[in-house]
Amino acid sequence: MAVETTKDYQTFFDPMVYLLNCFDQPQKDAFVLRRLTDFWIQIAKDGRKFTNMLEYGTGPVVSRLINAAKHVQSIIAAEYLPANRQAMEDWINQDPKAFNWRPTFEYVVQKLEGMTPDEVEKREAEVREKIKAVVHCDVKAENHLEIPSEISAKYGPPFDIVMTCFCIEAAVESEKEYRNQIAYLAGLLRPGGYLVMHGVVKERFYKVGDKLFYSFPLMKEWILESMKDAGLKNINFDLFSSNFSREEFSSVYPIEDLKSGLKDHYSVYGQLC
Ligand SMILES: C[S@@+](CC[C@H](N)C(=O)[O-])C[C@H]1O[C@@H](n2cnc3c(N)ncnc32)[C@H](O)[C@@H]1O
Repeated sequence: MAVETTKDYQTFFDPMVYLLNCFDQPQKDAFVLRRLTDFWIQIAKDGRKFTNMLEYGTGPVVSRLINAAKHVQSIIAAEYLPANRQAMEDWINQDPKAFNWRPTFEYVVQKLEGMTPDEVEKREAEVREKIKAVVHCDVKAENHLEIPSEISAKYGPPFDIVMTCFCIEAAVESEKEYRNQIAYLAGLLRPGGYLVMHGVVKERFYKVGDKLFYSFPLMKEWILESMKDAGLKNINFDLFSSNFSREEFSSVYPIEDLKSGLKDHYSVYGQLC
């Protein structure tokens, strides 16, 4: 039986429901958080400094930027849905209704990076300071990214890092459209810069509250080929199933989730050479 999914983010996507479903415990997002920590350690290991970064399709999610703030001078957060941009702004402005990212900061800064507890608050302030703008993006629009000229003059494009997590597959409807979007994102990099992506392969929908949102089922080969075609080299691809034990996640995920979608989470990055 066909599953009824929606692409109507304006009507049905509730940022707080998404955050409480997926980010109430940092362990639920451990695969992404660990891979991001490893990514930054890897690319910064020879002392290289990075200037600027774009996250395309942030949703209402701050946690992908926790490591990044240590390494870059500026971050532009781009997001399609106004309510998600507002959730980002609420956190930046320390609005009392903002989602509490503190447990996730503690997890990343203390557990994954091995820093002391007093670094946690400092890192929160650093992330807030480094996000220079929260702007609109739309895979489906002619202009995929709307960065006001005074912002782009200072903070890019081009970027040293372009990151996108669980976003492109929520919007595209064909392999061709996916490949075009990867080429577009790679085209925002300066030579030597990195495209880093997280997502799920072969997924047709994902759940937020009682709504099922459309997802385009990606194949691993398409991801790798589209990155190569976009001029990316030194590609590093990793699947959840290759590194994570069920036991580690069984306390935070229902067993059915572990059997199905979670094992297909991927993490990939490549460098524009
Ligand atoms: C599953 S959420 C991912 C959010 C966040 N990046 C994360 O890692 O959890 C999917 C995201 O795709 C965005 N999206 C949906 N349609 C889009 C479109 N046409 N263009 C760009 N982003 C879109 C949604 O607004 C939402 O933020």
